[in-house]
Order: sequence, then C-alpha cells, then structure tokens
Amino acid sequence: MKHILPTITALWALLLQHSNSLQIQRRDDLSYSEPSYPSPWMDPEADGWQDAYAKAKDFVSQLTLLEKVNLTTGVGWMSERCVGNAGSIPRLGMRGLCMQDGPLGIRISDYNSVFPSGMTAAATWDRGLMYRRGKAIGDESKGKGINVLLGPAAGPLGRLPAGGRNWEGFSPDPWLSGVGFAETIMGVQDAGVIATAKHWVGNEQEHFRQAGEAQGYGYDIDESMSSNIDDKTMHELYMWPFQDAVRAGVGAVMCAYTQVNNSYSCQNSKIMNGLLKHELGFQGFVMSDWQAQHAGAATAVAGLDMTMPGDTSFNTGVSYWGANLTLAVLNGTVPEYRVDDMAMRIMAAFFKVGQEVEQPDINFSSWTRDTIGPVHAVAEKDIKQVNFQVDVRDNHGDLIREIAARATVLLKNEGALPLKKPKLLAVIGEDAGPNPDGPNGCSDRGCNQGTLALGWGSGTSNLPYLVTPDMALQQRALQDGSRYESIFDNWGAADQIQTLVSQEDATSIVFVNADAGEGFINVDDNMGDRKNLTLWNNGDILIKKVSAICPNTIVVIHSVGPVLIDDYKNNPNITAIVWAALPGQESGNSLVDVLYGRVNPAGRTPFTWGKTREDYGVHLLEEANNGNGAPQDTFSEGVYIDYRHFDSKNITPTYEFGYGLSYTTFEYSNIKVRKTHAGAYVAAEGETMEAPTFGDSEGEGGDLADYQYADNIDPVTLFIYPYLNGTTGEEASGDPYYGMNPEDFLPEGATDSSAQPLHPAGGQPGGNPGLWDVMYVVSATIKNTGDLVGDEVPQLYVSLGGTDDPPKVLRGFDRIRIDPGHSAVFRADITRRDLSNWDVVSQNWVISDCTKKVYIGSSSRNIQLEAKLK
Ligand code: NOJ
Repeated sequence: MKHILPTITALWALLLQHSNSLQIQRRDDLSYSEPSYPSPWMDPEADGWQDAYAKAKDFVSQLTLLEKVNLTTGVGWMSERCVGNAGSIPRLGMRGLCMQDGPLGIRISDYNSVFPSGMTAAATWDRGLMYRRGKAIGDESKGKGINVLLGPAAGPLGRLPAGGRNWEGFSPDPWLSGVGFAETIMGVQDAGVIATAKHWVGNEQEHFRQAGEAQGYGYDIDESMSSNIDDKTMHELYMWPFQDAVRAGVGAVMCAYTQVNNSYSCQNSKIMNGLLKHELGFQGFVMSDWQAQHAGAATAVAGLDMTMPGDTSFNTGVSYWGANLTLAVLNGTVPEYRVDDMAMRIMAAFFKVGQEVEQPDINFSSWTRDTIGPVHAVAEKDIKQVNFQVDVRDNHGDLIREIAARATVLLKNEGALPLKKPKLLAVIGEDAGPNPDGPNGCSDRGCNQGTLALGWGSGTSNLPYLVTPDMALQQRALQDGSRYESIFDNWGAADQIQTLVSQEDATSIVFVNADAGEGFINVDDNMGDRKNLTLWNNGDILIKKVSAICPNTIVVIHSVGPVLIDDYKNNPNITAIVWAALPGQESGNSLVDVLYGRVNPAGRTPFTWGKTREDYGVHLLEEANNGNGAPQDTFSEGVYIDYRHFDSKNITPTYEFGYGLSYTTFEYSNIKVRKTHAGAYVAAEGETMEAPTFGDSEGEGGDLADYQYADNIDPVTLFIYPYLNGTTGEEASGDPYYGMNPEDFLPEGATDSSAQPLHPAGGQPGGNPGLWDVMYVVSATIKNTGDLVGDEVPQLYVSLGGTDDPPKVLRGFDRIRIDPGHSAVFRADITRRDLSNWDVVSQNWVISDCTKKVYIGSSSRNIQLEAKLK
C-alpha cells in the first residue's frame, strides 16, 4: 500500500504553520510572506551550468535515495573535522564535503592567512584586488581540503551602522557590495572551491537573530526576529548584490537565521523558491545557516537543499532531514524530484568549480590544534592524525599588505602626512600594540585587546602572525633615525603620555578602535551589534588628551564601520585622521606604507560617517517588541539607508560615502554620454521542463525495510545518518501522529512536478539577461594636477528621478593610476538594471519616464560633472 503518512518533520511544519496562522489571526497587522511553490528544479541549459549539470546528472543518476539524502544532510555539529560536513558516498569513492568559514580566510585552522575584511576590500574600490583576494582565500581553502567556503557575505548589507557583522560584507551600497560580492565569488570559485553567498536575506542585525541566543541574554522570546521588507526595497536594495552573485555563478547560498516577513528564511518559499530560484535563476544549492532550519518537509519544498550542521540543534543526535527526509520521500510527503534536485544542485556546484569525486583528504581539524585527535570530535572517536599543518599561505602576505594599504582612507590631512623622518614619533594607544594574550588569545576573537585587525565571530580566522602598527612603525623609525616611544595604556599612564607628547617636535599618533561581531559572543555588553558608535577603550578621551597637548596629533582608527568623531575632527592640533579599516595580519606594514607615502592613499569610505547615531535614521532593534513572539523589525525606511538617507534628508555627514583624500590632486572634465542601441527589454516567456528525476531509487512507495542500518555499520554517537530506525513509519519517525495526509498540511502546489512558467524578470542565472544590456556609456577625463603619482576613484552616480528615488545612487566606479601632469579617461557602462526600478505590479524591472541624470565625482558629495541621460 502506498505510504502517504507524514513524518515528524512534516508534523512539525504543520504545527508551525498552525501557530503562525493563529498568530496572524490575532495580529493581522504582521507582515506576511506569500507562498511560492513548487520549488524550481535545475535548468540543464542555464548559462554557465551546462557542463556542470551534465556531470552532475551522470553522478546523481548512480545514487540511491539514501546516498542522495546523505548529500543533503550534515553529519551533526562537530561530528567531523570541518565546521560543516555533508555525508559521504563511499560506494563511489566520494568523501564527505567540507564546509568551512569564512569571508576573510579559513576559520579555526592553522598556517593560513588572515586577509583584510570584506568591508576593507570594498574600501579599495578596486575590482582587481577584490578578485585577487577571493582567489587567494580560495587557493588556501583548496589547500586544506575545503569544498565549500562559507563566504563572502552581503547580508548584512549594512542597513544599521551598529550592525555586528557589517565588516564581514562590503558596503551598505548595494552596487558596490554587488561588485565586491561577485569579484570575490569568481576568485574563490576559480580556485576550485564553492563560494557561499550569505546570509539570504535581510539578516541585518545580531540582536534576536536566534530566539535561543536571545534567551541567553535575557529575552523570553520563542521565535527569531522578523525582518519585514517590502517588495521594492527587497529588489532594489537587499537582493541586489545577491543578483550579482547568482550572475557570477555562485555555487551556494546560505539562508539566514532571521525570518523574512514572518517566515523563517530557511523555510520561506517566497525568498528561496520565488526570488532566488525562480526569479534569479539560481542553479546551485541553498544551505541553512547553523541551526537555522526549523522544520523538515516544509523546508524541503520551500527550497532548502542542504541542512547544516545537520542536527536539529547542536548535538541533539536527530535531524529534521537525514532519516526523516528518507522517510518523507518514501511515504510521498516530499516528492522524489525535490531530493533529486537537491542532490543535483549540490553536485552541479561541485563540478562547476572543477572538483572531482576523488580528491585529497581534509588535512586539518577545526576542533583541535593537536596533531593527533578524533575525526569525530563530539563522539571522541576515530583517533588519528587530524592536523597535518599544511602551510597554504604562499606569498599572500604581500597581497594582504597591498589590499590593506590600498583600502586605507585618508580622512583628514593638514600637511602632516606623508611622514618624513619625524624627529620623535610618539605612538599612543592599546590599538597600536599586541594583545597580551597573544594574537589568537580569544576564541573567535571575542575580545578587543591590542590592535584590531578583524572583528569577532565565525567570520574570523587564526592569525599566523600579526604585524602590529607598533612593530612596523618602530622598524621604520629605526631606519630613519627617528626617536621612537610607544605607550599602550589607554586608561592610566597619563603622566607618561603627557611627558612624551609634550616634547618639542613630537609627532604623535593615537591609535583607537571600535569592534563588533557575531551575536553568539558578547564583548563588553556588545551583543554582536555595537551598543553605540563611539570608540572603544576610552578612545575619545585619549585623542582629546593627546591633541590638547601635541600640535601634531595624527589619529589612526581601526574599526568595523563608522565611529562618531565629529566632536574633535576639526581640532587644529589633529593634523591627520586615517581610517585603517580591518587590515588583517599585515596591519602595521600596510599602515606604514600609507603614512610614509610608499602608497599614495586612495581608499574611499564604503559607508557614511554620521555626526550622531540618530542621523542615520534607522535603529537597531534592541528590545523585543512582540511579547514572546518574533520581534518585528520593519524596514520602513525602504531604500533610504546610508548616503541615500543623508542625501534625501539633507543631513551633513562627518565624511560622506565615497570620500577619501590623496597626497596628490585631481581635476575632472569633459563628461560625455553616449546612448547605445540596446534593444527593447523582453520579459522572459515560456516554460521549464517537467521536474526531472534521476537514479533508480524506488522513491515513493519504497519498502522501508530496504532503508535500515546495514549490519556492518557501527553508528558513531550523535552522528546523523540517512538510515531509518525501524520498518514501520511510526517506528522510523517516532511520530505519534504518523498517518495524517500530507495534502492536509503541505502548501498548495508544493509537490507539483508539471512544467512551470518562467518568471518575466528571470530566464537565466542573475535574472533576465536584458537587465545587463548597456544603455549608455559615460566617460570623463581625469587629470593628476599634483606632483605625485596617485590613484583616483571616480564614482558615477545616477538620479533615477522618481518621487520615491534617492537623490542619487552609485552605478559605477573605477580606480585609475595617473602620473603627475597626466590625464586618464574614466569610462563606465550604465546597464538597464542600473536605470530601472522594481515594479511591484508587473513584477519586473521598469525604466520610469522620469528625467535621469548622471553625476561623476570623487565622492557622493563632491560631484564634479553632470549630464542628462537622454
Ligand atoms: C553561523 C554564522 O551565521 C554563519 O555565517 C557561519 O557560516 C556558520 N555559523 C558556521 O560557522
């Protein structure tokens, strides 16, 4: 008889749905995420995926249902050597997949490099460097046996200046963020490693991102927060960089902890099925964030393809998928084509980046630095050599130094820089020196001691060394014959500081910082998100103290985003201010390059520096505002974040988006606009094929007896397997309600396998190809009018002209090196997407009739040239 009985996972989904509907009935003002089913299956003809699809098809066609399920389900937290591990297929010689953080280098490993953060890379405004950074991170990952790198990030985008993880991503501007995202992805994947675009989508703050975590810091909430985002804002802002990622061929996307419009990201059919797979044509796989899966069958039909780390929550020993997914297919709850599609997506991403079934083993363990240790850490089983200390750093130190130097933003310079053999260099502040507990002294960098080279959380990496500013400056001072003294005490040492910085001819450099990170670590009452935008460790007082005495005070800031410095930035004794971002392991060397003029600074701030926290107009949700239910965070500012908000409200910032000085000067002239002959935009039409299935598994109706643990398997404690625990549905699921009809609770259309219409704004990975038609080519001449060679970063902004459009939005940039007295031509293509708004009615991109203008300048406020787009 046909099994049409639901699993415990499906029941869970039912309960969740039921409780959601109860809540919605009670609170019909809560924002709502509309359903989108069925889950789109892969397209064998998708641009860039044909070969990968063919290889995946050959491979997946050989798999049994158990093997397919094993690909989709992690083995459990700390059950193998990587941060996430998906099941292996020993019969075909395939070891388990290794997923490892993260966005700026390999997490919890050794002999790896620590790169500048994503935001720091964005500050270079240099596509080539962004790519090379991604490639180097990819090469290192490859060398360790990592299959899937858990980065880069563009969610958070940076809506909230205090958001804890903004530094992992690039910029609150979606265009700049999209460039950083895509270049990094291409770099990582060219190295043969699958990149993961995360976190999909709208995960803009750490507070309340996970109900359990929030309970830990005192909030009695049962559900994680909901980011309530309207359709236009979703498309024009938060989805934008992900669209670039999909177009760049990203292999994996990680769904987030948070809910979107009151549906958990990892079971939200609208964002996974509808936006990502249907509209954007994403062909790779969606992986859950760690414990972000909250249902079984419901997540499968909503578009999730892989659950990480595999257990329901860390070390429960049971999974929403694993055996439950096997059972759900056998009893017909989840259609077989959906599991086949999961396996296809995972394997297509695998083959797309050039990975092969037979591959070198993983040569490190995340859970110990000892050479010998357990392969299955949580079970303490299979003790052998797990760390091989493979040095994957190559010469990446040079690249890291170059990126951080080129990212460094000169915010103020009254002639103090570049330094020329200062007679006495007085370096003040904890942020110049080492962490007394060692460069890797705090787990996942959950402290702020010594110089700040990166933030905290899963987006961190163990430093192979850390060149502190103090080390590098002292070395340079010795070469120059300068006198050099440094004091790292931010709180005491007042007399010593006074004595030092008051001396005749002293050049003082005050080092200050502001840190942030991921919500599972609380540092000094900053729950991941910053509790304010001021400097840490008494930084303001330190700056004021030194600058009150020393007429040549230079301030160097290492920070995760903007800090409030308006109070003293105009003090004439402060002769220079430098933002050195989060530079990674070569911190001091990169800084010395800029301070001494080996590198002429051309970093540009990738966010706005406001005078006050309130000036940003958006607020971190710091209190649960929905009783025990999901805190509600409504993004009512729409697309107006960062400079878009400051511009539209006419608020003068401390330093505007895109701002940064040079040791030379540039002049802009001769703007030219050429209209191309791009054809009309054609909405995608037609249908997909019917849902394909692969392999010879029995699928629905299979005999449960065939899916039991084989006699030769000795299960590892807490390890997640795909096998069933019994020969009846009741036994296998442990579900007392086993027997309900899935049609009663799986959403309408969820199991449909018929051909589906294409999305009008879709058609190919990244969406409708017509969106990338070039509509205008704009150029301008830039002359270096100073007497030093330098890079200039011309920026192109467009005014879309509508009543609900920001005054201008970034739509192009370049970083161009120009010799003194010479000129260069800046050229930028403006695409259809660049000129379009998302039309919520037609569900497509539309160019409005409003007058459109183009601006070229050296920052978002220093506009030099403008023209109409006719
Ligand atoms: C949770 C974080 O949100 C995610 O970014 C990371 O990749 C996973 N943990 C794994 O460490």
